[in-house]
Amino acid sequence: MKKVYIETYGCQMNEYDTEIVKTILAGHQFGFTEVPEEAEVIFLNTCSVRENAHQKVQNRIANLKHLKRRNKKLIMGVLGCMAQNLRDELLGDNVGVDIIAGPDSYKKLPELIRHVEDSGEKDFALTLSEFETYSDVFPRAEAGINAWVAVMRGCDNFCTFCVVPYTRGRERSRDPFNVQDEVRQLAGQGFKQVTLLGQNVNSYRSGEYDFGRLMKLVSEVDGIERIRFTSPHPKDFPENLLQEMAGNPKICKHIHLPLQAGNDRVLQVMNRTYTRREFENLAAHIRQLIPGVVLTTDIIVGFPGETDAEFEETLQVIRELQFDSAFMFKYSERKQTIASRKYPDDVPEQVKSERLDRLIELQRLISLLKNEAHIGQKFKVLVEGPGRKTGQVIGRTDGNKAVAFFSDKLLPGDFAEVAIQAASANTLMGELL
Ligand code: 5AD
Ligand code: SF4
Repeated sequence: MKKVYIETYGCQMNEYDTEIVKTILAGHQFGFTEVPEEAEVIFLNTCSVRENAHQKVQNRIANLKHLKRRNKKLIMGVLGCMAQNLRDELLGDNVGVDIIAGPDSYKKLPELIRHVEDSGEKDFALTLSEFETYSDVFPRAEAGINAWVAVMRGCDNFCTFCVVPYTRGRERSRDPFNVQDEVRQLAGQGFKQVTLLGQNVNSYRSGEYDFGRLMKLVSEVDGIERIRFTSPHPKDFPENLLQEMAGNPKICKHIHLPLQAGNDRVLQVMNRTYTRREFENLAAHIRQLIPGVVLTTDIIVGFPGETDAEFEETLQVIRELQFDSAFMFKYSERKQTIASRKYPDDVPEQVKSERLDRLIELQRLISLLKNEAHIGQKFKVLVEGPGRKTGQVIGRTDGNKAVAFFSDKLLPGDFAEVAIQAASANTLMGELL
């Protein structure tokens, strides 16, 4: 049995895909190891959405290359978004990479490994399939509290900064009953929570089933007590989806709603298809329909051409909308994207850094105030594991906020009622009731 070592970078979809790759390889008599030195095949499942992931992977490839000197037969492969986006850079004798496979060609991996072994040639499989959903391959879920379930793949939005439509291809959704089967199997394995995944998850559509109806179907599975989803696009929040979220106790009251920028001109050149006003109205509508909902967001600073005044508008919207937390990034140009072809990356690095620092500082304060407002409130918390201090456990509220509290009896997967006593910008501290 050949041993395979897989390292995963980037988003949850990549973690999920790694488990899909393991299922596929296990079906072809491959085994797995956690130690690269023991492996006969090494795969890096890569991300190219943002700069740091990209750089990290490149360093790691250079770093692992020396293992090939010790084991001449070692096969090294690059999977995921970088494989799709940077194939030319990854080919070539000095890089040390033998297999390059984008996110839609994992079913061919056993064949590719054999081909490289037999012929000694480098090979790659890059074709993005229009229809691959891996519906017939259930990932090997490691035991735990939360299981991820990809319900759709790809993205047709073409935000101008984003590489995803090029690395993960066109939007396609799985059959809803196939998704439900996977969730039922996960519930049977003891999972209490599932997170429905997609690059553009609320664009889900399969026949009569849109995302709202899919969530209802998933919520009918006994044993699953919490349902989350990520990441949606603000353009796809039909009333029935919000009503389902408001009325269905299993669906967690947390929406990650990526804003990206606060200025209309910037939003337009990003091709986000909404204005500041439309986004504000959506946030207000969501908060009215789903009281207590936790809203989080993504922001990019320093998009090409972003002026100081335009950035100030992002700060204004952040101040006004009071997100519970945010992921904040400096713009970084990605090959193939519309922005890389049309808009020169002209905001100086130092300006990007200053903007990011100001934004992070502002959001940290808002997160702290929002968390402090929970002091004195009670939450139902799903325990995930031990906390930092001895005797402490960490769990999450329905709104996805981390809560630390002391308990010597509770185990991962248990629910508890906790009263909040203190708060930082990242965590709530409470007492078990
Ligand atoms: N530069 C900076 N941030 C980016 N994101 C996506 N592409 C880029 C890029 N080229 C951010 C967006 C998106 C999140 C997943 O990553 O904010 O919502
Ligand atoms: Fe990228 Fe925009 Fe699609 Fe999100 S919606 S994956 S940011 S193109």
